[in-house]
Amino acid sequence: DKGPWPHFMRKEIEEQPESLARLLGALVDPAAGSLKPILPGIDFASADRIVLIACGTAHYACLLASYWIEEIARLPVEVDIASEYRYRNRPLTGREIVIAVSQSGETADTLSALKALAGRVAARVAVVNVATSSIAREADAILDILAGPEIGVASTKAYSGQAMGLLAIALKAARDRGMLSDDRLGEILADLVSVPRIVAETLCGSDDIERLARRLSPARDMFFLGRGVNHPMALEAALKMKEISYIHAEAYPAGELKHGPIALIDTGTPVVVFENVDDLNEKTASNVAEVAARGADVVRIGPSGACDLVTPAAGPVGSLFANAVVAQLLSYFVALEKGTDVDQPRNLAKSVTVE
Ligand code: M6R
Repeated sequence: DKGPWPHFMRKEIEEQPESLARLLGALVDPAAGSLKPILPGIDFASADRIVLIACGTAHYACLLASYWIEEIARLPVEVDIASEYRYRNRPLTGREIVIAVSQSGETADTLSALKALAGRVAARVAVVNVATSSIAREADAILDILAGPEIGVASTKAYSGQAMGLLAIALKAARDRGMLSDDRLGEILADLVSVPRIVAETLCGSDDIERLARRLSPARDMFFLGRGVNHPMALEAALKMKEISYIHAEAYPAGELKHGPIALIDTGTPVVVFENVDDLNEKTASNVAEVAARGADVVRIGPSGACDLVTPAAGPVGSLFANAVVAQLLSYFVALEKGTDVDQPRNLAKSVTVE
């Protein structure tokens, strides 16, 4: 049932304040200002690294998480695409905690990578949206992102749920390792609990995003840029755009364009920039100036008043979720302009059960 919405994708984008509030309730005790006991039986104190494995959008959620885990828990992280991890024969110490991330819990590449690690690592965790799925059953512990059924082929509410779930795992890892002061925990939790509200406020700005989509929809190519966590965000935004609007979209760390891809920037090429809530923006600004000088149609997205699309004032975590909503709605409205099949894009299946 799509409710009042014309597509499942739109319905699922709009459901995020609710799905994220539900997940937050399972992860955090706001009254006590603490993390709930997630992943019982998993102890990050003796782990020597975390290995994150997934495909597609879930892989981009893992890339986001790698920044958080390294920064908050000070634990080395490896992120790999499941179909690659499976065949690359990485050296193992046996002290790794492996986290497989999958909305459906049925993705064949992710499942077979997880199975191949049985008995060779300290623990295998599944972050899934289907607690009875094959990946959940294979793992030693699960974190259910509680997003509810996701029908649209483009993953939206599952992506935000994965990001939130993985941030909670970063906090648990930091706590297990004694790396988290009460002040720092309080600061991150305040940012995290603001997410459903920030997402709801961002959704209220859908008219501006629709206007922007009309401007960008005639493009043949698009570029998405970001630094830090906004680089995985840019990768996810480009995937959403490709998947449902069939526009060629690429994403780069903002500092990387000048090493080659800037040759592709032409007059009017859209370059969408996700800004950070920190001092990285100064560097990004010089990268933006470089593409603007080549005639790019630059669109800056972020909480600063100087942006072309201003997102709600938020901390670094809240701002990232706002960017996710903008990316989702932008690709949705561009696809509507182009008249593509939003919920069932060509050549794609919701769950990829072949390797
Ligand atoms: O069910 P999974 O999360 O394991 O699926 C992984 C990818 O197939 C999936 O995220 C895909 O990239 C989406 N269609 C992206 O929107």
